[in-house]
Amino acid sequence: MLRNEEQILSKIATNDGHGENSAYFDGWKAYDTDPYHPTQNPKGVIQMGLAENQLSFDLVQEWILNNPKASICTEEGSDDFKDIAIFQDYHGLPLFRNAVARFMEKVRGNRVRFDPDRIVMSGGATGAQETLTFCLADPGDALLVPAPYYPGNDRDLTWRTGVKLIPVMCYSSNDFKITRQALESAYKIAQESNIKVKGLLLNNPSNPLGTVLNKQTLTECLNFTNEKNIHLICDEIYSATVFSQPNFISIAEIVQENPKINHDLVHIIYSLSKDLGFPGFRIGIIYSYNDVVTNCARKMSSFSLVSTQTQHLIASMLLDEVFVDRFIKESSKRLGQRHGVLSRGLAQVGIKSLKSNAGLYNWMDLRMLLSEPTFEAEMELWRVIINEVKLNVSPGASFHCSEPGWFRVCFANMDDETMMVALKRIHKFVNQNGKIVEASSRKMWRSKLEVNLSFRRLDEIMMGSHKMSPHSPMPSPLVRART
Ligand SMILES: Cc1ncc(COP(=O)(O)O)c(C=O)c1O
Repeated sequence: MLRNEEQILSKIATNDGHGENSAYFDGWKAYDTDPYHPTQNPKGVIQMGLAENQLSFDLVQEWILNNPKASICTEEGSDDFKDIAIFQDYHGLPLFRNAVARFMEKVRGNRVRFDPDRIVMSGGATGAQETLTFCLADPGDALLVPAPYYPGNDRDLTWRTGVKLIPVMCYSSNDFKITRQALESAYKIAQESNIKVKGLLLNNPSNPLGTVLNKQTLTECLNFTNEKNIHLICDEIYSATVFSQPNFISIAEIVQENPKINHDLVHIIYSLSKDLGFPGFRIGIIYSYNDVVTNCARKMSSFSLVSTQTQHLIASMLLDEVFVDRFIKESSKRLGQRHGVLSRGLAQVGIKSLKSNAGLYNWMDLRMLLSEPTFEAEMELWRVIINEVKLNVSPGASFHCSEPGWFRVCFANMDDETMMVALKRIHKFVNQNGKIVEASSRKMWRSKLEVNLSFRRLDEIMMGSHKMSPHSPMPSPLVRART
């Protein structure tokens, strides 16, 4: 940044709160400059850093062809063109709100009801998270977030709002479960630093873990936030990606079963980016049980409305129950199959992943391939994976993981053949370079790691949330605006 620019532009324009100035972007750049293609560039980088659900697009394409009236740019639909084109009410099309509410109910097994009048739209979950944060917290306030967590949170919840994120440390020793103790200790750290905690952000199912929160944990989190009189935000954008037991349980179910808790403190974030695989449509939803938040968020949504053309198309699609039922079932079946292929392929060369049943990725454990248990060694290994194995996977540090050696590998943004090529490359790499570290030396690592972790934690709190640890692999808009 030139000195002059710092003086003439705003703090937001000149700080690096977007988080793109990081070595982690090298992975995206490596992919963008050398993208794999089966015939034109078979040695290129395979993109496994993109949490996109592309496995069931044939079903959507078939529906589009069978429903030309849903699109206002077809002969069958053009009669609606004018009405849709001039509609601009920030409440959104009534049919759209109704269709989204019904879809959210269906994904939750029709065990809960959603009021269409509380559906507030925004530009993807990205916009929804930011709008909600603007409603709940002031600059300098903080939200607690169990780590590892989605790197985009650092941008979406903090960059323009001035809010901080404080990680709730979770560990592999209990499969990264959120405990009351971890929540209390993050809360205490904030208090000791004179930071006001305004809420807890959960991501269920989790990106990057691919696990769902059980009823006990959800209830514990709800009790925690209720006792502290802070907000509970649940990002449930992966709710329909669950492909095996245990089932997804929404915070809406827990709220319904607990009439005594303060409903005004509970908010759900939703989006069609993952469940339907439409990140390009930018359909994000804020569902708050709080009237004031709902009203304010709706007014703020003027800044990031979903276009009425998209609302119109999506309303028709989601109200087609036969299609929706088929899509949800088939998509989860295909995700489960793909997850199985990746997990088995990794297991063949001794690589374990965290046991998971949702999401579009595996949380891969490469601790045995680190030269030592540090984040520097994780970075070193990651560079080898990008530059030599030619796979863009995402290192755990970018998810604020507390332990080095974990990597997120996305599996639903490519076809079967590309997945096979990726697995072959992993096999070759492990067979040539893999060295399983003796249990004894691993024990030694563990004690080193504990020291390393406590320093890291202190550093993070001192530096403020978006500078807490190495940045996310979020692509620069100059590279690619997707994760
Ligand atoms: C947990 C989580 N929340 C929010 C988002 C942002 O989603 P959207 O594309 O709807 O803005 C993502 C995208 O990867 C995500 O993984």
